[in-house]
Amino acid sequence: MKQFDCLLPKPAVLIPDSGTLRITTGFTLGLASPASRRTVSGASRFLARLAGRTGLFLTEPKPLLHVQPPQATLFLTCRRPGRLKLNEDESYRLEIGQDHAVLSAETDLGLLRGLETILQLLTADAQGHFLPALRIEDQPRFPWRGLMIDSARHFQPVEVIKRNLEGMAAVKLNVFHWHLTDDQGFRVESKVFPLLHQHGANNEYYTQEQIKEVIAYADALGIRVVPEFDLPGHTTSWLPGYPELASTEGPHTLETGFGIKDAALNPAREGTYTFLATFLQEMAGLFPDEYFHLGGDEVNGKQWSANREIQTFMRTNQLPDHHRLQSYFTQRVQALVSKVNKKMMGWDEILASDLPASVVIQVWRGKEQLITAAKRGLKSILSYGYYIDLMQPAEFHYRNDPLSLETELTREEKNLVLGGEAVMWSEFVSPENIDSRIWPRTAAIAERLWSPPGHCSPEDLYQRLDRISLHLEELGLTHEKNYQMMLRRLAGTARITPLMNLVDLCEPVKLYTRHERRDYTTFSPLTRVVDAARPDAKIPRTFRQLVGTYLQARQKGEKNSKPASEFRGWLHLWSVNHDALAPIINSSPLLHEIASLSADLSKIAGFGLQALAVLENEGEKDWPAFSYMQAKESLAAAKKPRGEVELVVVTAIEELVEAAERVKRQSETERHRNPSGAP
Ligand code: ACM
Repeated sequence: MKQFDCLLPKPAVLIPDSGTLRITTGFTLGLASPASRRTVSGASRFLARLAGRTGLFLTEPKPLLHVQPPQATLFLTCRRPGRLKLNEDESYRLEIGQDHAVLSAETDLGLLRGLETILQLLTADAQGHFLPALRIEDQPRFPWRGLMIDSARHFQPVEVIKRNLEGMAAVKLNVFHWHLTDDQGFRVESKVFPLLHQHGANNEYYTQEQIKEVIAYADALGIRVVPEFDLPGHTTSWLPGYPELASTEGPHTLETGFGIKDAALNPAREGTYTFLATFLQEMAGLFPDEYFHLGGDEVNGKQWSANREIQTFMRTNQLPDHHRLQSYFTQRVQALVSKVNKKMMGWDEILASDLPASVVIQVWRGKEQLITAAKRGLKSILSYGYYIDLMQPAEFHYRNDPLSLETELTREEKNLVLGGEAVMWSEFVSPENIDSRIWPRTAAIAERLWSPPGHCSPEDLYQRLDRISLHLEELGLTHEKNYQMMLRRLAGTARITPLMNLVDLCEPVKLYTRHERRDYTTFSPLTRVVDAARPDAKIPRTFRQLVGTYLQARQKGEKNSKPASEFRGWLHLWSVNHDALAPIINSSPLLHEIASLSADLSKIAGFGLQALAVLENEGEKDWPAFSYMQAKESLAAAKKPRGEVELVVVTAIEELVEAAERVKRQSETERHRNPSGAP
């Protein structure tokens, strides 16, 4: 991979030049005057990361102020401080020569994006670190490139949020959507209605000081913070403190289970709207972003149907069903949001309402909602296909383009599609493993939203994700390091190699299947193998690729044993792994649930080896005893998830077994035709 092929997201235009800019202790970073606060802090962080990465004791470890281009190795210049608003200019231009580099932009936000590019370009050889000479002209394809974190179901402390903001900035994401309230928790301090957080959060909420701290942190990184107060459903946590908002008598207690709950605010009482008006006014003073997310998803209407007062209200106001009632509510809330000088956004259910053009729809139930919104003249962002809690591979998310249905939209309508957001619902994440669900897959979504349309190969994508993953760790993200820590704790020993050999091949079950397998609540431990295992497991990915290459070559009649020599070692290792792991499993109760999975892995790896021996040996005499039926049986067993994890090498081993069986059958057919074996 050339140094500039490593960028993630890929820039709009990159023109390579010859030569390199060597990074030495004499490296300096100069700023034109006047430099904004964001520029100075961004430049300082850049220098610290550069020094950290290169190990150089820089002579000038701080940005030099009031200098001209030739006086600094890297010179930063922009016209004005950027405003953290939709459609602000984030473009930048980077020229790296053999002696100097210049990064220029319209706004300091562009400078921040460009500095991340430079850190990704940094490479080393035997002589030390360097940047490749080149020219980049870059700007985002979409103005709204977000990550949503759900702090309600499982509270995520400030440091979790901060390190994820750093990760977002590294891949040029610019909107942090903070899901702050839901059935399981009301996570923001309210001074006007203190019983919201006092009775709705089990003491786990962000103080207003902490909220301000996060907003300032995000601002320095060029990231907007859009708060979400999910209404009128997903509101159980509002009710213990303020039961007058409810549609039922109560008693109201904080929800500990997951899924769609019945609680919905009472839309028939004027008091609900006066309460919300005051609350939104308070929040408008806390969150500076022009957008407020008011939820709107998954209202089942059960409590409304069961409430006589609400039914009367519906009849009086000619609202024939609960959808119409929710539309009424949404329109009232939209007016309240507008009154505090904010623009409303909501989940795509709010499309049922008559809404002004300022509203942004977050599409999550199906891509057609994007089209519906655009045809109605409404702005939208895509999250359908970006649900990173569902454990799908990065490649799946990468292929999901907000404008892939572009033929259905006019140019004006396409412009209403603002971008997208990865969404991290937190039913199954703790501060310990949340990063491993967000990173590095979210970087693939970031590229989809920043870079020009088009697709790279999966190999290219994963190679770049592997590299960015290490850079993300530098920012304090724990997606890699907590894996081994969690395995050590599970094994009760630091000698986790056999456990890692197994869990490296496991992924958590996908989509919503985890909910079906056990009764999860907010109290359930998130310390099991499934919580340590990661989506998009790397070794299986490589294994599958090698097996695929090997079998394809065979099919074409080519003999290419190189991939086999690479994956044979793995099959060997796995075939004996259960012997090494069984004693650890026996002494670790938390591992009992994967005992049979471990045994299955060793069994099928053994069959894989036998199949490989068949494929690799021309003459039948060297073939091992190989029972196709037994292999099939074991493979079928190995496909069943255990402890909510699945082995993701089974199909590749199955392909080897099938190929071997075909070879044997063919050989038998030939023997029948020519029983003497004579030529
Ligand atoms: C959602 O996933 N309920 C928006």
